[in-house]
Amino acid sequence: MRRIHMLSPMLANQIAAGEVIERPASVVKELVENSIDAGATKIDLDIEQGGLRLIRIRDNGTGIHKDDLALALDHATSKIVDFDDLEKIASLGFRGEALASIGSVSRLTLASAVANQTGWQVSTQGTEVAPEISPVSHAQGTTIEVNELFFNTPARRKFLRSEKTEFDHIDELIKRIALSFNQVAFTLKHNQRVVRQYRAASTMTECEQRVASLCGSSFIENALRIEAETIGIKLSGWVGLPTFSRSAADLQYFYVNGRAVRDKLVSHAVKQAYQDVMYGNRFAAFVLFLELPPDQVDVNVHPTKHEVRFRESRLIHDFIFRTLKDVLTHVRPGEAVSTPVALVERLPVTEGVESQPMRLQESYAPKRSAYVPQQQAMPLKVREQMAAYNQLGTVAESSQTEIPEKITPPLGFALAQLQGIYILAENKEGLVLVDMHAAHERVVYERLKKNHENKKIVAQPLLIPLTVKLSEREAECVEQQKALFQELGLKLDRLSQESIVVREVPDLLRESNVEELIRDIATDLLTNEKTFRVAEYINQLLGTIACHGAVRASRKLTIPEMNGLLRDMEITENSGQCVHGRPTWTQLSMTELDKLFFRGR
Ligand SMILES: Nc1ncnc2c1ncn2[C@@H]1O[C@H](COP(=O)(O)OP(=O)(O)OP(=O)(O)O)[C@@H](O)[C@H]1O
Ligand SMILES: [Mg+2]
Repeated sequence: MRRIHMLSPMLANQIAAGEVIERPASVVKELVENSIDAGATKIDLDIEQGGLRLIRIRDNGTGIHKDDLALALDHATSKIVDFDDLEKIASLGFRGEALASIGSVSRLTLASAVANQTGWQVSTQGTEVAPEISPVSHAQGTTIEVNELFFNTPARRKFLRSEKTEFDHIDELIKRIALSFNQVAFTLKHNQRVVRQYRAASTMTECEQRVASLCGSSFIENALRIEAETIGIKLSGWVGLPTFSRSAADLQYFYVNGRAVRDKLVSHAVKQAYQDVMYGNRFAAFVLFLELPPDQVDVNVHPTKHEVRFRESRLIHDFIFRTLKDVLTHVRPGEAVSTPVALVERLPVTEGVESQPMRLQESYAPKRSAYVPQQQAMPLKVREQMAAYNQLGTVAESSQTEIPEKITPPLGFALAQLQGIYILAENKEGLVLVDMHAAHERVVYERLKKNHENKKIVAQPLLIPLTVKLSEREAECVEQQKALFQELGLKLDRLSQESIVVREVPDLLRESNVEELIRDIATDLLTNEKTFRVAEYINQLLGTIACHGAVRASRKLTIPEMNGLLRDMEITENSGQCVHGRPTWTQLSMTELDKLFFRGR
C-alpha cells in the first residue's frame, strides 16, 4: 500500500488550475479581474492564436511592489487577511490562487511598477524553480504575459476548440466585464489587429453608448432604464421591452456588486416579472446590476465565482421581481413614463432583517435616444385625459366630431376598421394603428385576471350543456383539474371515457367557440402538465380563455365599439403587448406621414 505524502506546490497549483483555468478565456478573466481590483482605468489585451500562443494584458493600476512580485505568483493574496474578510468580499479576487494556477500551466512573465518606482519583473516556466527578479522599464501598472498555455498539460490542450472559438469566448468575456466596469477603457487585439475598443464612460449618455456598442443599439432603443433602491440594496440597469424578446437567452447580463453571475433565484425573479407579457419560448433581454453590502452575499461558493449565495434570498427575489414587474406593467399607452415615478412599497420582511417597513423608491424612464419606441412616446397623462374625457359624458361617435385638443385621449378616436384586422384612429400626434384582436385579448386577459384574483369571475349556465369529445388522456387531465376550471368560470364534468360536458362558461365567452377552447386547454394541460406550477398555469389558462374571448379578426366593429376598446387599452396594464408579447398598437406621427409624401420639403 502506498503511503500518504505531501503534494508538491506545483502539482497542487496544477490541480487548482484544473478547476479554474478551463480555456484561454478563463485566464483572461482572472487577469482582467486582477487589473480591475488594482484600480486600472485602462486595460489593453493582446491575444494571439485564440490565446493559446499568447495572452498579454497591460494595465495602469497600482502595480505590485518589487518585494511582492514572487509572492504574487505563489498562493498569496493582498485582498483578504482573515475569515472575517472572507465574509464580506468587496474585490473580484480573494483566493490568492489565480496567478499561481496560471503560472503552473504556462510560461508566465509578470512585470510591474508601483508609483514613482522603477519596474521589476519575474518569470516562471511552469516549474518549481523559484522565480528570479530582474529590473525592467515599466510605467506604473502591470503587464502579464502568458505564453503557451497548457504546454505542460496536454490533456487540457486537447479539449480546446478552434482558434476562432477560443477567441470568441475571450471576446464575449471582455464584453461581459466591460458592461459592468464602465469606467475602464478596453482595447482587445487578436493576432495584432484591434478587434474591440471600448471607451471609458462616466455620464449616463456615455454609459448608454457603451451598452449600445456592447449589446447593439436596438437593445438600448427598446429598453427601459431601471433604478430602484431599498435599504442597502440597489437594482439598476436596463430591461428590454417585452416586444424586444429574443429566441435565446443570449442577452441576459446580471451582476452582483459588479461581478457577472448566473443565479437561479435571479433568473426566476426576472422570468416571473416578464411572465405575463411574454409567453412561449421567448427570452427577455436585460443588463442589470444588483448592489448590496458585501456581507449580504457569499461569493465563495464556486471556483469560478459564477455563482453567489444571498443571505436574504427571498427578499432579493421579491425586490427584483417587484421592481421589474412594476416597470414592465407601466408600459402603457399614454403613460408618462418619461417622468420619474416614485413609489413607496412595503416589501415582505424576512426573518433576520429588521422588521421595519421597507421603502422602495424607484424611478424609471424609457430610453430617449435617436429612436424612441412609439408606444412610449406619447406625452399625455392617461388619468388626466380620462378624467376630462369622462366629464364629457358621451363618447365621440365619429371622427367628424371636432376634438378639442385638450381632451384627446392618448390613443385618440377611431376612424375606421381596416380589413377587419386593424383599427385606425386619430390622436394629437397623427395616426394610431391598433391590432384589434391582440389588443382586445390583452384587455380581456387583464380583466379576467383581476376578476379571478377577486374571485369575481361570472359564470353563465349554458342553455344546452355542451359535449366535447377528447382523447382519454385529455379527458382525464381536464377532469383532474375540475376545481381549477370552476375557479375560472368553467363548470364541467367527465361524461364518458372520451368526453366531457361543459355546463357553465365565463360570461365573456358567451359568443365564443367553447369546444375549441376546451380542446386548446386540454392540449395545454397535457403538454405542460409537469413543467408548470399552478399559479403560472392559471395565467396561461386565462390567456387561452382571453384569446378565445377576444374579438376575432374580420368581425365588424362599430365606431363606438372601437372607441370603447381604445379607452379600455388606455387603462389596462401591459396593454402595449398582447399576451404573447407582440405589440398591440403603433403610432405614425404627422411628421412620419408627411415624410411618406415628401411634404414640407
Ligand atoms: N494587475 C495587477 N495589479 C496589481 N496587483 C496585482 C495584479 N495582478 C495580481 N496582483 C496581486 O497579486 C495577488 C495575487 O493575484 P491572484 O489573482 O493570484 O489572487 P487574488 O486576485 O488575490 O485572488 P483570486 O485567486 O481569487 O483571483 C493579488 O492579490 C494582487 O495583490
Ligand atoms: Mg485574482
